[in-house]
Amino acid sequence: MAQKKLSGEVFLPSKAVVEKANVKDWDEMSKRAQEDYEGFWAAEAEKLHWFKKWDKVLDESNKPFYKWFTGATTNISYNCLDVHLSTWRRNKLALFWEGENGDFQSYSYYLLHKQVCKFANILKSMGVVKGDRVTIYMGRVPELVFAMLACARLGAIHSVVFGGFSVEALHERLEDSKSKVLIVSDGSYVRGKIVNLKKIADEALMRAATVEHVVVVRRTGHEINMEAGRDYWYHELSSLPMGNQGCEAEVLDAETPLFLLYTSGTTGKPKAILHTHGGYMVGTYTSLKYVFDIHEEDRFWCAADPGWITGHSYIVYGPLLTGVTSFMYEGAPTHPYPNRWWQLIEKYGINILYTAPTAIRGLMKYGDAWPQRHDLSSLRLLGTVGEPINPEAWKWYHRVIGRGECPIMDTWWQTETGMFMITPMPCVPLKPGSGTRPFPGLIMDIVNEDGESVKPNEEGFLIIKRPWPSMMRTIYNDPDRYVNQYWSRYPGYYLTGDSARRDEDGYYWIIGRVDDVIKVSGYRLGTAEIESALVSHTSVAEAAAIGLPHDVKGNAIHCFVILKEGVEGTAQLAEELRQHVGHEVGPIARPEQIEFVSSLPKTRSGKIMRRVLKAKALGIDPGNLSTLEE
Ligand code: PRX
Repeated sequence: MAQKKLSGEVFLPSKAVVEKANVKDWDEMSKRAQEDYEGFWAAEAEKLHWFKKWDKVLDESNKPFYKWFTGATTNISYNCLDVHLSTWRRNKLALFWEGENGDFQSYSYYLLHKQVCKFANILKSMGVVKGDRVTIYMGRVPELVFAMLACARLGAIHSVVFGGFSVEALHERLEDSKSKVLIVSDGSYVRGKIVNLKKIADEALMRAATVEHVVVVRRTGHEINMEAGRDYWYHELSSLPMGNQGCEAEVLDAETPLFLLYTSGTTGKPKAILHTHGGYMVGTYTSLKYVFDIHEEDRFWCAADPGWITGHSYIVYGPLLTGVTSFMYEGAPTHPYPNRWWQLIEKYGINILYTAPTAIRGLMKYGDAWPQRHDLSSLRLLGTVGEPINPEAWKWYHRVIGRGECPIMDTWWQTETGMFMITPMPCVPLKPGSGTRPFPGLIMDIVNEDGESVKPNEEGFLIIKRPWPSMMRTIYNDPDRYVNQYWSRYPGYYLTGDSARRDEDGYYWIIGRVDDVIKVSGYRLGTAEIESALVSHTSVAEAAAIGLPHDVKGNAIHCFVILKEGVEGTAQLAEELRQHVGHEVGPIARPEQIEFVSSLPKTRSGKIMRRVLKAKALGIDPGNLSTLEE
């Protein structure tokens, strides 16, 4: 097909990549999806298993509480596991894993199914039934995957809390979800050290009234406290006879809640994004298959953490739904040496690597020699997610890791969207730093304050103009906040919270968050979480947190603190406050710098103007100051 000449620096896909690709003509697919949007999604849904088919693809009767595949029954766990058992995939590697210390585990679809049934039976024996919430707090280990799929199998709702979070963050999530069971590992390995997850959990549990039982998975084997009648070892429970009985997947309405995932928003506490079985399943399956061009023989490595949406959608659900082999690695990319990832790619013949710009920048820092020591020729496709990627890092990734031959799928999406939203496919010409265009069928736009589309290359608010199957359904326990935060600014349209521009070729360029969310190393943190951790310290009266550009992390957290009367702002106290935030929220939230100040810029209504603090720190014009009180 004749290709329009694109502006700027463009990387065309090689003939070999296009020849192999599932989708060879993006424009044709996009046109088809635009013309018959529901038909497009229905055709994809047909490829999955439904106990009963839907009456309606998209139900818009109660906007913005959209529903998908209404009247249908299914179970995502059944689609991830059982459907493969009657095919040759029964013996195919579903999941394989390497620990930071070199431990190795692998599971065929058959074996993974067994493990999941076993875990589901354990949960059942603890009284977990459909609709119950189960919190999972672990490092990156296979049992985390078993636990997620076991919940799904029963129709229970999992809430995975990232293993890098700490006491307060875990406590808040246990309380808000009113979890009945907590699944935790004794500890996790992080750069050779043990993080005592069980101890953090014990502290969080002291104030979490709803948790009846705790399942403890042994990973690090260090001494921990086990509370009689509450805490049970997973390996003991799973060796009981009940573990070996099968466990049928519950037949669930397509709109049955699948999981909660807490994420930071504009104000206040993290909110629980709710996803459901049917639509989420169709979205993750379709997006992974086409964007990462999944082939039966592929070994797919999503190097994210299962505790975030990327891991949910693309370590666990997407790969298992497509029947591909998913790889999971426990440790950090640079431990013990900066070639750890390259070693793994070579050792296991990984074909697709999906990671975050912060990891790429962090590895790039160590130079080309580390990756060049390894044979990375198995790689066919690369991916990135979580924050904008600077063209320099993109090109390094492309040239050094991808031999100049592997297209990079820069995927823009969110916890709320469940699946890739702005993304290339392997056949699409790429521009470093742009996620190219919306996934076929989606309608997105960039608008000004008044909701009018901005001109090419002008910055504006990124919005989504029609529902999609894997969209969040609500904020758990807070439907009003769902409506207000996402659907009220431009009625009928979904507000992403990002600003972006679109070039003359229709390519989208994400600029960043326009709300009080800071992306640190691709992790999403709210200024409110950091500030409330700071003010919970006895010396602090008031605090403000902002993100400032950082070479590797993308953004780093800087805090401005007003101390209580009579407290002196010493370097030692600043360090103590940094550690305090780390203890309350988690190491990723530890501020880069703390500055003691005597006042903070506020609006007349008392809201901190972080924009002014940021401008001052960067030495740039703070813009309109008419609402500034002092
Ligand atoms: O600001 C955008 C950024 O990450 C935000 C969503 O964060 P979270 O819900 O944690 O999900 C991250 C993983 C899906 C977005 O609002 N973001 C995500 N992907 C990209 C990105 N920014 C630029 N380019 C991306 N590819």
